[in-house]
Amino acid sequence: MSNYLQSNVTKVTTHVLQNMKQSGEKIAMLTAYDYSMARLLDGTKIDIILVGDSAANVMAGYKTTLPITLNEMIYHGASVVRAINRALVVVDMPFGTYQGNSKEALASAIRIMKETGADAVKLEGGIEILESINRILTAGIPVMGHLGLTPQSINKFGTYNVRATEEAEAKRLIEDAHILEKAGCFALVLEKIPAKLAAQVTKEIKIPTIGIGAGPHVDGQVLVLHDMLGITQQFSPRFLRRYHAIGEEITNAVKQYISDVKSMDFPNEKEQY
Ligand code: KIV
Repeated sequence: MSNYLQSNVTKVTTHVLQNMKQSGEKIAMLTAYDYSMARLLDGTKIDIILVGDSAANVMAGYKTTLPITLNEMIYHGASVVRAINRALVVVDMPFGTYQGNSKEALASAIRIMKETGADAVKLEGGIEILESINRILTAGIPVMGHLGLTPQSINKFGTYNVRATEEAEAKRLIEDAHILEKAGCFALVLEKIPAKLAAQVTKEIKIPTIGIGAGPHVDGQVLVLHDMLGITQQFSPRFLRRYHAIGEEITNAVKQYISDVKSMDFPNEKEQY
């Protein structure tokens, strides 16, 4: 294995990620939507920060990712980029900004790149959005693909269950992965698909695969920050490992503050002028 760890790199690029796949070093990716969290994450030497449209759920409280707008994603993207020195920053293109009209897709991607300073964009889907991906790539904008459970299509799927368990859908997913690789995507998110299928895709394509609920045999992993930290407490799919219970810690801290205010324990003599 070459230099584990890419800790020496000053800025993670798509080229660095490609080298990581080749050397077998796993890629760690998390979401962030604001300056303060992104700053903490960048200090840990996380490889990729995704400004996911999961912001619609965890930041804005929508039930699906569909309502978030391009302006809102740009606001989150720019806030994150202002905090970053090292990580590669990818911004999700929101629902309705790239499907069906490749010129609009390019215009949306250009706005994201110009107004956020991000390094790349991510789009959900395979052959059906190929024209948009091609047009964005011709402008020199790096594109991350996203196959399997694609939450922007929740109204078509009807559930957030694991995808591609049937042979026909698995075959289509493999074909789509090859199409996205050939088009020039620099990496591919595989969401909630059988581990065996994710392993096969990872072996067959040369670009890095980043899994979420896709098992261990992928080139990297991604989780939603608020889920892995235990800020969102009601969401607990099998693939989610909780690394902390920050939600509980926040609740306890706020309860203590309320109690201190009511009892006039806060502010004390040292906390006044
Ligand atoms: O929006 C998001 O957070 C995502 C990840 C789940 C991959 O797309």
